[in-house]
Amino acid sequence: MSNNAYSRVRFFSGENVPLETHKVRMVQRIYLRHILDRHKVLAETGNNTFLLPNRDVFLDMLTDSGVNAMSEAQYAAMFMADDSYAGSETFYRLESATREFFGTKYFLPAHQGRACENILATAYVKPGSYVITNYHFTTTKAHITRLGGLVFETVADDAAKTKSDNPFKGNYDMGKFRAFVEKTGTDKIAFARIELGTNLIGGQPISLANIREVSQYCREKGLKLILDASLLADNLYFLKVREKALARKSLASIVRELASLVDIIYFSGRKLGCARGGGICLNDEADYRLLRDFVPLFEGFLTYGGMSVREMEAMAVGLRETLDIDVISQTPLFVEALGELLVEKGVPVVTPFGGLGLHLDASSFIPHVPQEHYPAGALGSAVYLVGGIRGMERGTLSEQRNPDGSERLSNMELLRLAVPKRVFTLSQLKFVADRVSWLYERRDLIGGLTFSDEPQTLRFFLGRLKPIGDWQEKLIAAFLKDMPSGL
Ligand SMILES: Cc1ncc(COP(=O)(O)O)c(C=O)c1O
Repeated sequence: MSNNAYSRVRFFSGENVPLETHKVRMVQRIYLRHILDRHKVLAETGNNTFLLPNRDVFLDMLTDSGVNAMSEAQYAAMFMADDSYAGSETFYRLESATREFFGTKYFLPAHQGRACENILATAYVKPGSYVITNYHFTTTKAHITRLGGLVFETVADDAAKTKSDNPFKGNYDMGKFRAFVEKTGTDKIAFARIELGTNLIGGQPISLANIREVSQYCREKGLKLILDASLLADNLYFLKVREKALARKSLASIVRELASLVDIIYFSGRKLGCARGGGICLNDEADYRLLRDFVPLFEGFLTYGGMSVREMEAMAVGLRETLDIDVISQTPLFVEALGELLVEKGVPVVTPFGGLGLHLDASSFIPHVPQEHYPAGALGSAVYLVGGIRGMERGTLSEQRNPDGSERLSNMELLRLAVPKRVFTLSQLKFVADRVSWLYERRDLIGGLTFSDEPQTLRFFLGRLKPIGDWQEKLIAAFLKDMPSGL
């Protein structure tokens, strides 16, 4: 019998909390600074949570990228790494893990997900051509537009609604997809892309039934279909628990079917496989030969692709561990637990709860802050101030400006509090819920941000902002009244 703790273990008391199916054997000390110290650091780092030094962060909920907890088997495998420039045994082990996992023939290594995107965009995107996708991801879009390409999104209109009961908000709206292809013509379409666990709309999954439809239509029309499998682990968990027809199927067979429906798969190994790296998997020899030539040019020789061999060993083990439901359930169950604590306090969050992290709906949290003043970024500053919690803005700040310099207003203003796999304890998440709920009660005090230094590309990574007015000082005064320790 399989050991599916997520579905079988219940607390006799009736309490609904996730149960960890791992134990902690190595820890990292973290520090909660005084709110006045946090304010100073925030000002020094331009109100950009990407620029905060980790030493000043209590709970790092920026991302799950490269910061998931690794298993003992992964660490053990790292000792076996074969450090050769060419022909490393490690490469063959990782290649065979990807074959076993996806059932694909070829594997091209790359140093992370966006490196795969660079290779794919370089190979297929021409000026004026379109990439169709359920929803864009920041780095994906930046590579496409860098080459003069355009992005067309096909999620249904309700995907951008923060409150919903649609279990698969990442699905393609087939009507929109077909209409766009008919209108545009296949010649102008570089490829169609499916992003699993759709990142920017709240880690929302796409159903296998929908992927089958997309695949069938792409095959009818002769369109290349590329799968971004970076967030496969969360999406796979949701397929298993939300898509009725899959309840009795093994995780391995679901992954194999997914892979068989697309032409090319790429992934960030910082997410899938809980290590640091990436890769492209495919079957077609002509595509393989085209893409292969970019690996030594951009990444490194074909048997390491810019990755450390130690990470490659960990990734091979991590891929196999992705087929364990008790491993992949941990993040979604912790996101749900945090979400329920916040919903109880009336805090607006994205529903259904997705993977990756808990997403606060900044538009409803602080509706008085206009999108041009980056509400999700401002909420990120406020959450850091009151809890030492580092989240990530996923809204207008993460968009690129229009060619005429005007703001491209995002259709969602989210602050993501990532829940990396098996990293945080439940009491830490309760602390997050406590500080965010406190902030919600004082939400009228939160104001907006404006750029003091705005980079032209991917501005959210390195840009610096300042608060509009003295709202941060007012928030600190309110906090010190309720929490005189300043912690
Ligand atoms: C869906 C998706 N695609 C691509 C990437 C890019 O991967 P990387 O950060 O490894 O470059 C990410 C990273 O967050 C992602 O979530």
